[in-house]
Amino acid sequence: MKKTVNIDWAKLSFSYIKTDYRYVSRWKDGKWDDGKLTEDNKLTISEASTALHYGQQCFEGLKAYRRKDGKIQLFRPDQNAKRLNNSCKRILMPEIPEEKFIDACMQVVKANEAYVPPYGTGATLYLRPFVIGVGDNVGVKPAPEYIFCVFCVPVGPYFKSGMTPVNFTVSEYDRAAPFGTGGAKVGGNYAASLYPHELAVKRGFADCIYLDPVTHTKIEEVGAANFFGITKDDKFITPKSPSILPSITKYSLMYIAENYLDMEVEESDVLIDELDKFKEAGACGTAAVITPIGGIEYKGKLHVFHSETEVGPVTKKLYDTLYGIQFGDIQAPDGWIFEVK
Ligand SMILES: Cc1ncc(COP(=O)(O)O)c(C=O)c1O
Repeated sequence: MKKTVNIDWAKLSFSYIKTDYRYVSRWKDGKWDDGKLTEDNKLTISEASTALHYGQQCFEGLKAYRRKDGKIQLFRPDQNAKRLNNSCKRILMPEIPEEKFIDACMQVVKANEAYVPPYGTGATLYLRPFVIGVGDNVGVKPAPEYIFCVFCVPVGPYFKSGMTPVNFTVSEYDRAAPFGTGGAKVGGNYAASLYPHELAVKRGFADCIYLDPVTHTKIEEVGAANFFGITKDDKFITPKSPSILPSITKYSLMYIAENYLDMEVEESDVLIDELDKFKEAGACGTAAVITPIGGIEYKGKLHVFHSETEVGPVTKKLYDTLYGIQFGDIQAPDGWIFEVK
């Protein structure tokens, strides 16, 4: 008989719940082992691990979706595999073969199938793959051994009461250096964002916006999400910079805007002094899909886009199309969907 779990799907938030199985693989002497599922959610590592001292670690985030017919699918896990490997390369960690990454995600979803929320709840199973440098090492150099792990947690829909715009404030801090690791999903970028995030939240904002670390004139990231704006003539514009994390949601939305909604799309500079050209704006990422931006506070003034309380029509269409594709209700472009069998 299939296992069932006692979870109130409607009350799920984005927090840790221990699920039954996680995947662990170890790298030693130049190669990854076969990896296996384990029930133990603790990792025992050397006190001298580079992940603990020098931030030699990176991670990913993707989701498994339950379709109307009960089947389960992953959204573009091959893109997460590629991005994880870019992060690994940047901080001298061994890459994970793409098939190994996808197989690990599939194994974890199948082993924890009872935790994949039912269709229609808006909830999903969030997967967290990560790689850490471990083993005995004190000097600043790459670790002698590595662990690749994938765990999962069921998470609730980001918008409990529908999609509501939120306000952001521009931070005077940077999350990444000009030629640093902003384009890689490494923990150090997130450590750097904790304090500016807290300052923004204390002042009543959802999060902060980071400007480019060279000139502080162009929008880069919205908290842990990418920015997009819709111009008055319906163009989808999103910033381009090597210190922005290349969001898989953002590139998916660019494709959707162009091919499903017949819009022009552009990756170009978004000057903080030129917000007037946008009639709508949003933040996008795996967790929220799209967070509509009500307003942006900069130098003491709040610039409001469409509305502080209502979602703009283009943002809504983008959201509905992507959400429909992710849950299997709308035909996806070739290669975007990986069914868990
Ligand atoms: C800094 C940052 N920007 C953007 C994103 C959105 O990326 P994705 O759409 O691939 O989830 C994330 C989340 O992974 C992030 O951490």
